[in-house]
Parts: sequence; C-alpha cells; structure tokens
Amino acid sequence: MRQNYTVNIPELAQFTQIIMDLSDDLITVIDQQGMIVAMNTAASRLLGVRPAQMIGRSLVQAVYGGKKFDYQGNYLSPLVETLETGREFKNIETKIKSPLLKSDFVCRTTTGLLRDAQGYAAAAYAYDKNLTEARYLERTNENLKEVLHTQQLQTVLAFTEAIGTRDNYTRGHSERVAEYAQMIATAMGLPDISQLVYIAALVHDVGKIGIPEHILNKPGRLTEAEYQVIKQHSVLGANILKKVDSFSDLVAIVRAHHERYDGNGYPDGLRGEEIPLISRIISVADAFEAMTSDRSYRRRFSIEQALAELRRCAGSQFDPVIVDNFIKLVIGTGWGKSLG
Ligand SMILES: [Fe+2]
Repeated sequence: MRQNYTVNIPELAQFTQIIMDLSDDLITVIDQQGMIVAMNTAASRLLGVRPAQMIGRSLVQAVYGGKKFDYQGNYLSPLVETLETGREFKNIETKIKSPLLKSDFVCRTTTGLLRDAQGYAAAAYAYDKNLTEARYLERTNENLKEVLHTQQLQTVLAFTEAIGTRDNYTRGHSERVAEYAQMIATAMGLPDISQLVYIAALVHDVGKIGIPEHILNKPGRLTEAEYQVIKQHSVLGANILKKVDSFSDLVAIVRAHHERYDGNGYPDGLRGEEIPLISRIISVADAFEAMTSDRSYRRRFSIEQALAELRRCAGSQFDPVIVDNFIKLVIGTGWGKSLG
C-alpha cells in the first residue's frame, strides 16, 4: 500500500548529504552564481577541508584559487563550464588542478545542469569518479589479484606517487606508458600478460627515486657523468622491487627496460629475445610517450613524427615486431588523433 508523506526541506538536505557521503566519488553542486551548495565528504577530504568550510563559497575561489581558465583559455573546472555554457559532460577524463592539492587528481567527470520548473538552469552538479585507484583495480584481472593483493597494489600506487613527486617529468608519464604498453600487449594477442605489462610499466622508472634531484630535474643538457648516474635507475629499480616478494616477476623486466634490441643498451647489453618481452614492449611505449610529450627543452613530436622515429629505430633500438604492431594499432584505430 502506498503511503503519502512529506519530507521537509532541511531534512531532505540532510538525507541527501548522507547519501552523497556514502560515495567514494566526488560530488559537488553549485548554484547559478557558482557558489558551492553541496559537497560530499569524499570531495572535501580530497581537498583537505571540511564540507562546512566550502558551502556558500565560490567554487572558483575556494578550489581553483580564483582562476577560472588555464593559460590556453580552457575552463579549469568542467563544472563551471557547464554552468556558464550549458555544455554538459559525460564520463570525460579530467584532471583537477587545485592549489589545495599536492598533485593533479585524475578523475572521470560527469556534469549536468539542474533546471527549475520553468526549465531555467538553477544549479549544476559534477560527479567525479576517482580514477587514480579505480584504474589500477580495473586493470587487475583475477589472475593477478591472487598475486597482487590490495596491499601490494597500494605499494605500486605509493611507488608511482613517489616517482611523480621526485621527478616533474615522470608525473603522469608512467601512467601513459602503462596504458600504451597494455594496448600493445592486447594488440599482439597477449591478453594473459597485459595486466603484468601494465603494472611493470607503471613502476618501470621506480629507480629514479634513488637519483639525486638536481640531476633528475636538470633543465639543460646532462654531462656524461650525470648521464651515467641517471642510467643507474634501471638497476636501482630492480633492486627496490626485489625487496617485495610478490614483485619478483617485475625485477628482470624493470632491470631491462633500457636494453636495446641490437645489444647496445644498458645495464647488461642483452640483445633481441634475450631481453624480456615485456621490457621490449615498455621500451617502445616509453619512447613514444616521451616523444609525444612536451619537455622543457623541446616541443613534442607530432604522432606521425614519433611513429617515423620508431620505424627508423626498429631493429636497432626496438623490437621490429613490436614497432609494427604499435604502428598498426595507432593508425588502425585512429587512436593517435585523440592524443594529438
Ligand atoms: Fe627509464
């Protein structure tokens, strides 16, 4: 039997808050003026504030330090963009760049307008799905879950976070290399190892933790001596991973990620198939990511230039079969366009 009852508005607001707080994902609602009217604890926890401190404040002021646009004129907040332009987003990958955060927060964002009875926009909401952790869990198949329990996954997360904090250039780099490497493995018909590829690629530069910061982040050219120091990171990384039992599969892979197909790489001068397959895959993904990202000393290559360079070095630096597969993957799926 249906029962009619009314809920008064303050109670409703309280219930809504309770429901929002059940979510691990970030929920924020702003009114027509861009003032925060609701924020769940997941969002406020991420920002290191209490929800009560945020309610009634301008989102742009409170979260983005008063900045509405980035230097290219794009909205920093998809939520503000939705409010001001009416453009709604569904599951787009975004990065929250807030002065309140130590590093960018990667999430999958859905925004929308809330309209009043007359159809006018009364408020806008954003739902930010936390990808930083979801991504790893998503990519971890049952098989690997048996080996890598949550605790080990957290260790991987801590490692990648640690590398990112030390090395400006590596921030986000490992995640992208991991994605490319996993796509290569899948394209090569190696789904069984694709999870291992992903994890190995995430931690491939973990040894950079042991490289002095002034060398790691040196803006100019490295001297020969400094280059020798940087080169130690693959061995250092392998030695770090050796200390964690469940990472034993990763040790040889990380050690060999700078080996070259022709035997002129380091640290062991392995050649061809002596180099672990996953290291050969990471090497291609790593080079492609580096070439297609801006560096302080040069602009990024176009996708075409980067692919041409991979092709040029196939057989010398890279495994030609992997390069072939990668080029097919990028061209065949039109995937390169989304990167450019
Ligand atoms: Fe490396």
